[in-house]
Amino acid sequence: MAGTPLIAGNWKMHLTRAESVELARAVAAASTGLTDREVMIAPAFLSLAAVKEVVADSPVRVAAQNVAWEKQGAFTGEISPPMLQDIGVDMVILGHSERRHVFGEDDAMVNRRLTGTLQFGLSPILCIGETLEEREQEKTFTVIEEQLRQGLKDVQSDQMKQVVVAYEPVWAIGTGRTATKEQAQEVHAFIRTALADLYEKTLADAVRILYGGSVKPENIDSLMAQPDVDGALVGGAALQAESFARIINFT
Ligand code: 13P
Repeated sequence: MAGTPLIAGNWKMHLTRAESVELARAVAAASTGLTDREVMIAPAFLSLAAVKEVVADSPVRVAAQNVAWEKQGAFTGEISPPMLQDIGVDMVILGHSERRHVFGEDDAMVNRRLTGTLQFGLSPILCIGETLEEREQEKTFTVIEEQLRQGLKDVQSDQMKQVVVAYEPVWAIGTGRTATKEQAQEVHAFIRTALADLYEKTLADAVRILYGGSVKPENIDSLMAQPDVDGALVGGAALQAESFARIINFT
């Protein structure tokens, strides 16, 4: 286990502002007094400021679901790191499978977003993961290594303290088909070794690697019991206060 476990909820394109505020209140209440784990939620851009206000007196951290790499400029449809910092947001999910597969973001763009993010002092969660086809063709490790290497291109050792990696097998996202704890552990251990090759072992041992893909109250305990699983990135089950509260309180 590297660092403090991080349980993160990715709300994707769900919830109105009022619904987001209500859920954020419930997450803050469920996180009260927790000191041995971190809780993070990532609402849609339009709800970030309101959610940030609601959790201000709680340990809950708030992240954006993407960010551009420049301070400002002609980037229609994008949000800049300083805009997030302006409302107190200091974390951001990058390279999510849906950004890659629905919106065509490639490793080069993910890397551009990530290095920009780090320059502004935000903490990125770099998402990587293989498709079902790639897994069936036994390309999982090659794909993971490539996404990691290219996503982290030009990222210096001292910046890696800010970086969280999330392994989200594409075939497990929103499908109800969670990776088994053995499958998750195998890839997480591989990611840690790859990080040790790219940087050094002590640094790799300190990077938090989250698992994402159909995490539920029923499987969180066994996933978190794996030695290289340092947290979870939760989609659907993070949209209900009760199930997310149970996931936060994994044992
Ligand atoms: P689900 O938990 O709904 O499978 O989504 C996972 C995910 O994509 C989190 O970023």
